[in-house]
Amino acid sequence: MLEPEQILRLEDDRVVLLDQRRLPADVVEVECRTAAEVADAIRAMVVRGAPAIGIAAGYGYALAAANGEDLDEAERVLRAARPTAVNLGWALDELAADPSAERARSLHRDEVARCRAMAAHAASLLAPGTRALTHCNAGGLATGGYGSAVGALQSAWEQGLLAHVWVDETRPLLQGARLTAWELETAGIPHAVIADAAAASLMAAGEVDAVLTGADRIAANGDTANKIGTYSLAVLARHHGVPLYVVAPSSTVDHRTARGVDIPIEQRDPAEITERFAARNPAFDVTPADLITAIVTEHGVHESPYGSSLVRATVRP
Ligand code: MRU
Repeated sequence: MLEPEQILRLEDDRVVLLDQRRLPADVVEVECRTAAEVADAIRAMVVRGAPAIGIAAGYGYALAAANGEDLDEAERVLRAARPTAVNLGWALDELAADPSAERARSLHRDEVARCRAMAAHAASLLAPGTRALTHCNAGGLATGGYGSAVGALQSAWEQGLLAHVWVDETRPLLQGARLTAWELETAGIPHAVIADAAAASLMAAGEVDAVLTGADRIAANGDTANKIGTYSLAVLARHHGVPLYVVAPSSTVDHRTARGVDIPIEQRDPAEITERFAARNPAFDVTPADLITAIVTEHGVHESPYGSSLVRATVRP
């Protein structure tokens, strides 16, 4: 398992990011010397995954403060880098009063600690011998260390509860086939990559016991934005009687957004799908709360109605 500082870190005069676009073939780093360069790296998905984007933005803001950059402008470019993951704005809000390197690093440490706590809660939902299915990458790469949904799988594996993981390849950028499979391989967890469209027939064959995903933004009512394709998995899971668990830190819960329909969905370059034809490329979709069996945060397992349990547990005083 990668150490948090191997995934991203703040040095005296730069933010260093493991280049997730090139994994698993090449393990190389990208160095950013300004907040604008960090924002470019977030937009280009050098670093991706909602919590990791938040940590990167926090490091970019602390770097801007250390550099004597215009902090209003630094905040503006970082906040605008990607629209759906609420962790980005959350991290900038957290650093507003104290944009120091130490504060940014403590945000990173806290996020990894939240992952460990929520992973333990989520693993407790799984029965021995679970064959899980996961989508996108919600591992340490996506959270700056340990992982949310993949952290839960790791914890379940260590407790002898997990038999196997089906890994959605996750078109078009293959976060599952490249990143999750790499993390599971490193952890020694039995897994197989599947075409996204194979999930239905695996569920119909009774080969999936639980679906675990991360989240990019959870509205106050529990509606959850995550990588495109999560909604279809949720519909399939409900049809086949398979539980779907969303595992995410409280930094992903957006109390200011009432319902999923209000979550901004990032539209990415159609060339990620095809350069030959017209294409449309929404990067995320919204799963309605009633299709989610439970949302697991560092505070515990939240079940419907999320509006009360989730908000009570995650709103800060
Ligand atoms: O476009 P990405 O790769 O940033 O999308 C990431 C996801 O959708 C993850 O599932 C989500 O951020 C949760 S990561 C713990």
